[in-house]
Amino acid sequence: MKPRHFLTLLDLSPQELDLLIDRAMELKQMHKQGVIHEPLKNKVLAMIFEKSSTRTRVSFEAGMAQLGGSSIFLSPRDTQLGRGEPIEDSARVLAQMVDVVMIRTFGHDTVERFAQYSDVPVINALTDDFHPCQLIADMQAYREVRGSIKGKTVSWIGDGNNMCNSYINAARQFDFQLRIACPEGFEPRADLVATNQERVVITRSLEEAVAGSHLVVTDVWASMGQEEEAKARMQAFAGYQVSPALMDLADPEALFMHCLPAHRGEEISHDMLDDPRSVVWEEAGNRMHAQKALLEFLLSH
Ligand code: CP
Ligand code: NVA
Repeated sequence: MKPRHFLTLLDLSPQELDLLIDRAMELKQMHKQGVIHEPLKNKVLAMIFEKSSTRTRVSFEAGMAQLGGSSIFLSPRDTQLGRGEPIEDSARVLAQMVDVVMIRTFGHDTVERFAQYSDVPVINALTDDFHPCQLIADMQAYREVRGSIKGKTVSWIGDGNNMCNSYINAARQFDFQLRIACPEGFEPRADLVATNQERVVITRSLEEAVAGSHLVVTDVWASMGQEEEAKARMQAFAGYQVSPALMDLADPEALFMHCLPAHRGEEISHDMLDDPRSVVWEEAGNRMHAQKALLEFLLSH
């Protein structure tokens, strides 16, 4: 039987995603109460990181340990992947030894090719195009604080990057409206915008995007792999900053999220993370709970 993979939010149905968030909240409570829950005893997760990470690595590694399993950190620097062993071969080899594989890489086609050749579930832990693990944590954080996001309005401010693309998928799967404010030339993937026209609008105006919104989200101006463009991007994105004053235009109950790491003075003002509307620390913590629910799900299907 072919395993289930999690390469984008579209790999799970809206119902499955809802249940996943319920389960993530349950696992979070159990963790807080010190309940030992080890359904993945003797299971092993391989974690391939071709880009840096703090949250993703720690959340998967800690989560897997709490579920009774273990994990192996693999970087291209010291594996044959870095010396050109084909993805297709690596996928077939790892599936002989581990139960689930997590990959953070550049091109999205890398995780697609890996998954195609893998007999065990593959999780996308960030590609140039998508970051679905962050979205399940974000959706959990919204539900915990404000309840269902269905029918609400979310504003994305800044780069039409992997996080923005994932918010478009989330708008579809969790049924909300998405207003994206980005500079010209930095739009999200055109195919995603085209297939979600009834939920997604693009504007150049931050104020227009944020007016009356229930959740405001942003991310860095230059993502991993875009280091050489960083200077040009500073200019292109000047002014695309979320601040408490901008948040005042949103709904009085609006929340602020950022996948982190954040650059104060660029996409956010220096005081934004400390604003009472910011839930970034809970959001970051939820990475672990949401991914534990995901690991349970993928290893039971
Ligand atoms: N948000 C996120 O994925 O963080 P890391 O890059 O630290 O994993
Ligand atoms: N857009 C950012 C997200 C980091 C978690 C990047 O890809 O670097």
